Amino acid sequence: MIQLKHSGDLDLLFSSIVIVSNKKTKLDKSLSDEVHLFHKKFHKGEEKFDFLKTLNGFIFFVKEDQKVEELRVLGAKIIGYLTKENTSIHFTGESDAILAVAEGLLLSSYQFIAYFKDAEKKKLGLTEVFLPADISQKKIDELVSIAKAVFWARDRVNEPVSHLNASQLAQHIADLAPEAGFSVQILEKTQIESLKMGGLLAVNRGSIDPPTFTIVEYKPEKAINKKPIILVGKGVVYDTGGLSLKPTPASMDVMKCDMAGGACVVGAVYLAALQKLKVHVIALVPATDNRPGMNAYTPGDVISMYDGTTVEVLNTDAEGRMILADALSYANKFKPELVIDAATLTGAAVRAIGTKASVVMGNADNKYFDLLEKSGIETHERVVRFPFWDDYATEMKSTIADLKNIGSANAGMITAGKFLEHFVKAPYIHMDIAGPAWLDTKEDYKGQGGTGAGVRLLYNFLKKLK
Ligand code: BES
Ligand code: ZN
Ligand code: ZN
Repeated sequence: MIQLKHSGDLDLLFSSIVIVSNKKTKLDKSLSDEVHLFHKKFHKGEEKFDFLKTLNGFIFFVKEDQKVEELRVLGAKIIGYLTKENTSIHFTGESDAILAVAEGLLLSSYQFIAYFKDAEKKKLGLTEVFLPADISQKKIDELVSIAKAVFWARDRVNEPVSHLNASQLAQHIADLAPEAGFSVQILEKTQIESLKMGGLLAVNRGSIDPPTFTIVEYKPEKAINKKPIILVGKGVVYDTGGLSLKPTPASMDVMKCDMAGGACVVGAVYLAALQKLKVHVIALVPATDNRPGMNAYTPGDVISMYDGTTVEVLNTDAEGRMILADALSYANKFKPELVIDAATLTGAAVRAIGTKASVVMGNADNKYFDLLEKSGIETHERVVRFPFWDDYATEMKSTIADLKNIGSANAGMITAGKFLEHFVKAPYIHMDIAGPAWLDTKEDYKGQGGTGAGVRLLYNFLKKLK
């Protein structure tokens, strides 16, 4: 990853420079007359961004008076100009705006290239970013932690199931423990069997790989909350649909992304731990692949879940709710203040609002939704609240069991949420991240593929809790 450091003198000859300024900003004296002149002209014009090519790099000009998100996007734009030779970049000017540009720049420096034979050649040239002395070390550390956690989540999503089965996902989570200082417990198949997690075991029946159930606990001293916040993430490492097989190429191709909820909640707790937030949080990640194997669960099956509820399976492709239901009932034993789940749960959520935001709903107090919406704006990981009336739950009643796992053709994201609510005994927020978790093409500081959606959002939300 790119190193973020406090800068010494501007090294004009060998690095690129980003000047984030307003009209009155005094430029560094070492900059040439040409730059001073260009700067003056730039501030007279309408453009928010411009650049000068120098012998070995660029001088970028960014107007400070822009929305934070616009500044992040310019950070991504800057990365786009750099060549293999531009190995370092200096920032100078207005510090708050610089932080936003640097965040965008850092987040867009992500690459998933390990599987190329010539990976080294494809590697970005940029290795060092220098920030002015008036930006605190604390702010720099936070930016680095954000990028680390988001990249961790993106990497997990981008890993194909050939390299990331449930056990490998659990191991990757455990690998974070020494650095993060949180505890990780991995429940293996035999433990999942003795706990009778019927939903997770049912989905796993078509697979030759065992399921896992990973519990991450971050409990700082003097936490502000007496009861923990529980984050539950869907960990379907690949979703073929099972016997209710998905069509390919249209729907199945990107289904390695179906553990993005798991990656999101672990990424958020990792980030909270790196930043030593004073919040007690626990992440739960039930994980398996969903396949039409020899003994795969079938449409028509009745499954006894972890909490004793029986579920008639009418579509094996509605597997996320089966494994989440067990994790949500498991969460009850912690007597949580609040339960939030993140899941790539329904195509309905994507059809409703696309990739630009997550669908959220729930029964938690409005104050939590207000905070989440605020965090959504600040991080530009926006959320849209959907209705959660009990009327929708009636669709999930079965004629032969307590529940069935699909509703009607309408409002599938809400009926899925109501199904999950049945298993939760605490204030609850459900986040369907099926839209923003994955991008088919690069967008600003989010690359093609896994976006790490929800990591910055949930971290920002945890930071706001009082
Ligand atoms: N993993 C999918 C949902 C999904 C769709 C994620 C698109 C990301 C992008 C989920 O398991 C699924 O297949 N849901 C079904 C539910 C239906 C059978 C009730 C769906 O949305 O079609
Ligand atoms: Zn599915
Ligand atoms: Zn799925």
